[in-house]
Amino acid sequence: MISTSSLSSQELISIEDKYGAHNYHPLPVVLAKGDGVHVWDVEGKKYYDFLSAYSAVNQGHCHPRIIKALTDQASVLTLTSRAFHNDLLGPYEKYMTEYFKYDKVLPMNTGVEAVETALKLCRKWAYEVKGISDNQAKIIFVSGNFHGRTMAIISGSVDPDSTKGFGPYMPGYEIIPYNDLKALEQALEDPNVAGFLVEPIQGEAGVFVPDDGYLKNAADLCKAKNVLFIADEVQTGIARTGRLLATCGNCSCEKSCGHNPEIKPDILILGKALSGGVFPVSAVLANDEIMLTIKPGEHGSTFGGNPLACAVAIEALEVIKEEGLAENAMELGKVFRSRMQELVDKSDLVNLVRGRGLLNAIVINDTEDSKTAWNICVALKENGLLAKPTHGNIIRFAPPLVMTEAQIQECCDIIEKTILEFKV
Ligand SMILES: Cc1ncc(COP(=O)(O)O)c(C=O)c1O
Repeated sequence: MISTSSLSSQELISIEDKYGAHNYHPLPVVLAKGDGVHVWDVEGKKYYDFLSAYSAVNQGHCHPRIIKALTDQASVLTLTSRAFHNDLLGPYEKYMTEYFKYDKVLPMNTGVEAVETALKLCRKWAYEVKGISDNQAKIIFVSGNFHGRTMAIISGSVDPDSTKGFGPYMPGYEIIPYNDLKALEQALEDPNVAGFLVEPIQGEAGVFVPDDGYLKNAADLCKAKNVLFIADEVQTGIARTGRLLATCGNCSCEKSCGHNPEIKPDILILGKALSGGVFPVSAVLANDEIMLTIKPGEHGSTFGGNPLACAVAIEALEVIKEEGLAENAMELGKVFRSRMQELVDKSDLVNLVRGRGLLNAIVINDTEDSKTAWNICVALKENGLLAKPTHGNIIRFAPPLVMTEAQIQECCDIIEKTILEFKV
């Protein structure tokens, strides 16, 4: 193993800069250790993590139960490919489908692969079940979406940073405004529409929460036109927004999956916290009518459904349930937004706070292309809390869900002090 213990943060950043592609612009902090809601940099400075690896580390860094599942399984069997069966895949699939209440699950690795899988499933269903003519199926995306970085997925994006210079783009998509039922109703008039892909809350765009009733009405409109409602819960799922899924709405079943969710997506896409942030595990869930349209040889992944992933994901989901993390996110989210609202009321630098559960954002009172939000994040870092702007003047706050109320109060104190002392 290469020893890095003698290198400073600055030296490590320089090595990354020299040898790595420049496709990210991280905050200047080099992390070397994580435990629960905390991370430490190479100089030993301790921080609250208020990003959770973009909501992948919902269960907290290095959760002992998840790490034990990982290491126990790692010394027994890690990968078989799907050329052979493995002894954990079936039990994992049974566990997942019972947990989320679908007939079937299709295991993948990263979030974007799961979104691609959902789109392929939607097209297959369009041709084989709905009866759309070959190559005519359309999928509706919404503006402001973020579903990942592959060619097929960026083709449905309106963000120039994601798309510019990467054309030509995949045909067969229509992009309509988010949170606009009239636009959806109009788009659904086209009989070739097969699916509607949506994030219940737009995370990357800046934590945009749609109007009450938008998702339920959108799902009803889709159902009326025999169009699949596809929910990308890669970021919002697995307890982040105070429910097991953001599409659960107000269904608040005790420490368990929603029995009467507000919306049951036809296709549900999960990733990130499905592994507790230990390594890439994603999944697509659907009922038989949709899932069984894909036959052997038509879709797959060498690593999808590997035994290590199965063991880790089962434990990660057990932790969510047994530690009541959705309930905790719901309660602490209220505390957080009420503290941030007090800050909005007394600071000219913050315009508003919004979010659900522990997926929240504040909007900084400056232009979208200003550096103010970035500079505030640098100041937060100095004060022991790590967060990152999403789009220009928006700062997302998404700590691990294992936080206590005393800790969130302390974090709100740090944010308040930093903003009140901040000089533009
Ligand atoms: C809603 C949503 N979908 C898909 C993705 C892509 O996930 P991954 O980066 O694991 O491919 C993300 C990542 O941030 C996301 O937020």
